[in-house]
Amino acid sequence: MGIGMAFRSIGRHMCMLMRQNFAKSCESKLNDQINMELKACHQYLAMAYHFDRSDISSPGLHGFFLQASTEEREHAEKIMKYMNKRGGVIILSSVPEPIPSFDSSLEALRHALRMELEVNQHLLDLHTLAGQESDPNLCDFIEANFLQEQVDGQKVLADFIRQLERAQSDVGEYLFDKYMLSAGMHSGGK
Ligand SMILES: [Fe+2]
Ligand SMILES: [Fe+2]
Repeated sequence: MGIGMAFRSIGRHMCMLMRQNFAKSCESKLNDQINMELKACHQYLAMAYHFDRSDISSPGLHGFFLQASTEEREHAEKIMKYMNKRGGVIILSSVPEPIPSFDSSLEALRHALRMELEVNQHLLDLHTLAGQESDPNLCDFIEANFLQEQVDGQKVLADFIRQLERAQSDVGEYLFDKYMLSAGMHSGGK
């Protein structure tokens, strides 16, 4: 056995020693969740720099989506830390290519809301699975760190979409973007 192999098997052994009541199915779905958060991180980053283009120039939406991207990366890392605490093995997959540009602010915000609802559905499914596998620790982790924040963020996006629908004109879009300058998805909108 080579040195590398020996270290890998020691690593696996230590991992097994502290692993307790953590089903393979939960480990696999947690990995999917990490990859969904990274996909959202990547999409928000693409959105942020779409709105930074000189022919678009919406600094409010740029900042809003940039912050959203950072938050998604933090979500992924929070789950990665948790995986290691439970003795799971993190497996990152390749991140799909994000949508590079949007015809309007409204289209981007609607896409963001669809993406958040998809992420939330996956979290709810993960919570159901944790219940089926009798894993209260995982249920608590999901509840304490994700479920409320998701619902809060989705309300913020839905409000912005409605406000922008009401403001539909160039002047309206301009004023909306000024409003977005101080907005954050997970800080109650203002
Ligand atoms: Fe997230
Ligand atoms: Fe999110």
